[in-house]
Amino acid sequence: MKKIIVLFSALAVCVSLQAQVKVAVHETAQEQPVIPAGIYGQFSEHLGRCIYEGIWVGPGSDIPNVDGYRTDVVDALKALKVPVLRWPGGCFADEYHWMDGIGPRENRPKLVNNNWGSTVEDNSFGTHEFLNLCELLGTQPYISGNVGSGTVEEMAKWVEYMTAENGSMAELRARNGREKPWKVKYLGVGNETWGCGGDMTAEYYSDVYKRYALYARNYSGNQLFKVACGASDYDYNWTRVMMKNAASKMDGLSLHYYSIIDWNHKGSAIDFTPEEYYDILAKSVEIDEVLRNHEAIMDAYDPQRRIALLLDEWGTWFNVEPGYNPGHLFQQNTMRDAMVAAMCLNIFQKHTARLKMANIAQIVNVLQAMILTKGPQMVLTPTYHVFRMYNVHQEATFVPADYNCGKLVSASGRIMDDFSACVSRDASGALHVSLANPNLDKPVTVELSFEQLKPKKVSGEILHAGKVNAYNDFGKAPAVAPAAFTGAKIIGRTVKLTLPAASVVVLEIDA
Ligand code: AHR
Repeated sequence: MKKIIVLFSALAVCVSLQAQVKVAVHETAQEQPVIPAGIYGQFSEHLGRCIYEGIWVGPGSDIPNVDGYRTDVVDALKALKVPVLRWPGGCFADEYHWMDGIGPRENRPKLVNNNWGSTVEDNSFGTHEFLNLCELLGTQPYISGNVGSGTVEEMAKWVEYMTAENGSMAELRARNGREKPWKVKYLGVGNETWGCGGDMTAEYYSDVYKRYALYARNYSGNQLFKVACGASDYDYNWTRVMMKNAASKMDGLSLHYYSIIDWNHKGSAIDFTPEEYYDILAKSVEIDEVLRNHEAIMDAYDPQRRIALLLDEWGTWFNVEPGYNPGHLFQQNTMRDAMVAAMCLNIFQKHTARLKMANIAQIVNVLQAMILTKGPQMVLTPTYHVFRMYNVHQEATFVPADYNCGKLVSASGRIMDDFSACVSRDASGALHVSLANPNLDKPVTVELSFEQLKPKKVSGEILHAGKVNAYNDFGKAPAVAPAAFTGAKIIGRTVKLTLPAASVVVLEIDA
């Protein structure tokens, strides 16, 4: 179909009333990568009400809990299938001293959270509480070690405390109630060491990294996966220096990318114009190009792709909601956030030759959260619903698909696709197709065609709301919730459906 794009106040709008996209699914293509569950990872930080209230209320709380973890949040996270959880920061990690968070809770020292609103916390959520939470959720822990203000010895001993079967750290752990070591695979050696994690140059940090990483040992069969702190956004030089100086000593290199256009004017999470909507989406999907550029640098130094890229912080970052502590980064979450999540996850699934993990910031009550709480109340955000709908892709085999869609030009001049799709095949042979229509003003009719497959049955779920700034609020019926999608029709070797404006659909196709 011919698409006419007009520029209006630097914002492009497609003038046709309905778009049509043909998606050719190459389901017979050989040797495709398995989509690592890790790209559906989460991030939790001692920041605002992420840990305290959001996850941990303590065993004596009136809020229903299992050993101190709030029951409603744990149940919601189990349904999400969280593959990996990063902790304790973020910037917080580089001022966190793990020994303050072990032993009897009443004896633990109090800590001023210098990064996040100077909140005083009592260290009641520490190593045991975090690693036991991971066991409860069936998630892999990703420990973010303190390089900025911690010593090599402190990090080395933390690893020993968590993972060794014998020795004085293991004995201390046993005295604190845990005989058996935990399995801890992922160790981040510093966070944002170019900023809040030590304000270092890449050249300096690459040496520091090697020193800390050297003494983080493998104990009792536990095999660490050591992650060097990587770049922010477009800092390709950081990636280059790290790869040049330290590639042989790392298993992974991180990257942070937030959907922010202007740090001084982040805008409201719920009150935005169409221009702002497209701008945030366009900035978000720019991650595709940013990943490609970092990957190309990594390829030059590591053509075998031994070293993983981990996007261990990403997501939207808006103004703090009025009335909340400005240092706590609490923001609401609308259908716009759902569109960002859906389009970014579709992109990540196409980068898994190098990208092995992504951790959205953050899991509860901070930035683009899955879950928001207010005392005993809890809501699931639109972003949560996308992650839950998309979890069918975890560990499924990627299936290539191509399509030609229209383009949108955002107010900041970014050009983005006006449609997004990704396909995978799970162990049972079912195909899952995740589709997103970011257009605010028009539906998209999609025709999926297959090479050999004869679809027998199609079912699906849709996330769509009357308004794109709809969100789920405390004490109100959910304004954004997934519903069964019955609009897909099988016609021969094709499946046809129409995506409403600003909607996300995940289909399951049995052949
Ligand atoms: O997610 C909030 C903060 O953003 C993290 O603490 C930090 O790593 C990043 O700058």
